[in-house]
Amino acid sequence: MANSNQYEPGRDLLSPNRNFAPITSEIDEQGILMVGGCKLSCLAERYGTPLYVLDEATIRAACKSYKESLEKYYPGRSLALYASKANSSLAISSLMASEGLGLDAVSEGELITALKGGVPSNQIVLHGNNKSDQELLLAYKNGVKIVIDNQHDIDRLTQIVPSGSRPAELMLRFTPGIECHTHEYIRTGHLDSKFGFDPDQLESALKQLKKIDCARLSGLHAHIGSQIFELEPHKDLTGVMVDALALARQLGHPIEDLNIGGGLGIRYVEADDPPSIEDWVKVISNGVKEACELKKLDLPRLMCEPGRSLVANAGLTLYKIGSRKNIPGVRTYVSVDGGMSDNPRPITYQSCYSACLVDRPLDPVKEKITIAGKHCESGDVLLKDLSLPYSRRGDVLAVFGTGAYNSSMGSNYNRIPRPAAVIVNNGQSDLVQRREQPEDLLQYDVIPDHLIELG
Ligand SMILES: Cc1ncc(COP(=O)(O)O)c(C=O)c1O
Repeated sequence: MANSNQYEPGRDLLSPNRNFAPITSEIDEQGILMVGGCKLSCLAERYGTPLYVLDEATIRAACKSYKESLEKYYPGRSLALYASKANSSLAISSLMASEGLGLDAVSEGELITALKGGVPSNQIVLHGNNKSDQELLLAYKNGVKIVIDNQHDIDRLTQIVPSGSRPAELMLRFTPGIECHTHEYIRTGHLDSKFGFDPDQLESALKQLKKIDCARLSGLHAHIGSQIFELEPHKDLTGVMVDALALARQLGHPIEDLNIGGGLGIRYVEADDPPSIEDWVKVISNGVKEACELKKLDLPRLMCEPGRSLVANAGLTLYKIGSRKNIPGVRTYVSVDGGMSDNPRPITYQSCYSACLVDRPLDPVKEKITIAGKHCESGDVLLKDLSLPYSRRGDVLAVFGTGAYNSSMGSNYNRIPRPAAVIVNNGQSDLVQRREQPEDLLQYDVIPDHLIELG
């Protein structure tokens, strides 16, 4: 898929996942791109580059769309959770809490970020296919719901929860047999997945949990994949989950919550055309409602846990353009001051992005270039065949759609410090993550005494 080039204003303000740029993007009278009322060139100047920029209004609009659509289409209780693996920070946790969203965490780090960010503990779920005792204990002590992923979780919990004390609140994750590859999906009996109980193990796990008094199973969970553009797989998922709900209740579990996972896709490039948040919520709401009616089951609380569609399009990354290498007849590489350490998705998944020059986003296209990162890796390329006006050293490039799975999947490869992150709203910008300094990278290094002596 070719990368789209030009900036494009938001076309769906209610469903931010359908625009590659934040919904507040606009061009000012000097032709400079602004987001959240802030000139992007000024942000680059003030905070340095690379810089993650998050638009608060876009995140809030996405949260509202999930919440309001659930209220509109689902007649029972509901709760949208934020899958914090998409982008975890204290500021985002508190923003999600202020919008009334719960949160999904998969590690001690994500869990403490949620708790310290002010997310109520009874609205947090802890996932993970290999939870440590420490993670289980932290979740248990704080009254966080633990999503049981496998036999190991059950075994460890029976050791960890003191006998006679309050039981741990559990959900059970199972593999629903629906496999998605973004633009297609298949139903299979068994899936090759490290997550959750196999469908064949579900009944025996449910029976086993019934005999354990250190835990109370009150929810079921399944997640079928990410960046999904079709609605059909999630409709199918609701049927599979309501079947499991019927079975679990039959076996005597007081199941209140059905958590359908996340997965709604977003627009990264012009050619992407994901459904709106409202359409996605409508499908899962109707699916659960109709399947429960058919089986004469009381409606569970409907939960979902989107990540990407809540934050990706609120984010963009600003880079400064540096060196240029022209290989006649082959391609022109233009390098920026970041790359695979702040955005590992292109090298990992061959992901495509849209980008523009912030001080002339609408100028006519003059050349096709490849935006390379600065890391010592030939594959460190952020955008291939990007059509842009001529660019010069020092120009600021904005890469859109980087609010999810960029910062959270980033690294310090080549000992490159992590970028700063700011949140913008109504003309104001605030730091939410300080820029790491090269010296910070040394803080956990230790030189053993014998090496000092030899040195
Ligand atoms: C269990 C679980 N829930 C939710 C999500 C969030 O998915 P997405 O960001 O596609 O909405 C993921 C992502 O992989 C996941 O593994």
